[in-house]
Amino acid sequence: MRTHILVTGGAGFIGSNFIRFLLAQRPGVRVTNLDSLTYSGNLENLTGIDADPRYRFVKGDICDDAAVSPLVAQADAVVHFAAESHVDRSILDSRPFVVTNVMGTQTLLDACRRAWAGNADRRFLYVSTDEVYGSLPLDRPELKFTEETPLQTNSPYSASKAAGDLLARAYHHTFKMSVLTTRCSNNFGPYQFPEKVIPLFVTNLIEGKQVPLYGDGLNVRDWIHVDDHSDGVLCVLERGRPGEVYNLGGNNERSNLELTHAILALMGKGPEMIRPVADRPGHDRRYAIDATKALRELGWTPTRSAWPAALERTVRWYADNPTWWRRVKSGAYREYYAKQYGGG
Ligand SMILES: NC(=O)c1ccc[n+]([C@@H]2O[C@H](COP(=O)([O-])OP(=O)(O)OC[C@H]3O[C@@H](n4cnc5c(N)ncnc54)[C@H](O)[C@@H]3O)[C@@H](O)[C@H]2O)c1
Repeated sequence: MRTHILVTGGAGFIGSNFIRFLLAQRPGVRVTNLDSLTYSGNLENLTGIDADPRYRFVKGDICDDAAVSPLVAQADAVVHFAAESHVDRSILDSRPFVVTNVMGTQTLLDACRRAWAGNADRRFLYVSTDEVYGSLPLDRPELKFTEETPLQTNSPYSASKAAGDLLARAYHHTFKMSVLTTRCSNNFGPYQFPEKVIPLFVTNLIEGKQVPLYGDGLNVRDWIHVDDHSDGVLCVLERGRPGEVYNLGGNNERSNLELTHAILALMGKGPEMIRPVADRPGHDRRYAIDATKALRELGWTPTRSAWPAALERTVRWYADNPTWWRRVKSGAYREYYAKQYGGG
């Protein structure tokens, strides 16, 4: 078992849930969390973990080699979540996406190459996304993304993630580093920044506001609970084959309209709370993951994503934690929301 794991982006949604999951599942492990605390990084996501002697937080930028190199040298493995993660923001300004998702990944990979000097026991896991595969048509429900599906990115976000994904692959092939890649579908669960659809809609409804629904609402996503994603990342880290890509998905396809109606029903609200807004430019129509490889090779199964129970638990978490999201939704968030959805 790897005992000292460097997690990048551990103050974000998935990274913080992963650290919580990892410390609970592997008592012998130590974790260093490297995060620069951008708008989406929040140390309150780690409340309760921060006092654990096995956990350490380091504020730093993954693009800064002086911050990265000593941490990498101390670690047995790197699990790389840190990223600019929101498609809509990449449409407003793609530059931070290229800087963090491409240059930051390159900085980390290079630091590992130097510090680990060919030691294949040390592992680098790149957390990629199903969005690198592009979009599936709505009228071909039998089609799903496999690990062999060509990368056909459509947004600046997915293009920057694909660049990091291919760099990770290149470091395996060229330098024989033990690199692994996961490509996961849309996550939901606690501590998700409320620019993403589920916490955005749930918290808007609690505040008595309408929910802004893009276009015709028929775009389909494959929803996975963040704990199933964390479990998949841990399985790949411990048992995956170096150089391989593993798809992870919840086997839980829903259109945005279906998702919206499910949230409205859980919260006792009607369809008048939907505010149709202009579609996202270049909006991918459908994502669907075939996770057979992770299922067969690693015995991973998403057991926590089934609806409606998983969605209901998530809605309840936001209802029970207003202090967390009210603070997140104040300040700069308001400007972003007004720019994106025209207020309301
Ligand atoms: N959210 C999803 O549904 C989803 C699905 C598949 C894959 N992913 C991938 O998972 C990862 C985490 O996603 P998330 O939703 O938790 O994102 P998030 O935006 O909630 O968190 C990102 C974290 O990275 C940190 N960060 C950003 N730039 C940094 C930098 N230069 N140096 C150090 N830290 C930096 C932020 O402060 C934040 O804590 C990303 O790589 C994303 O592409 C997300």
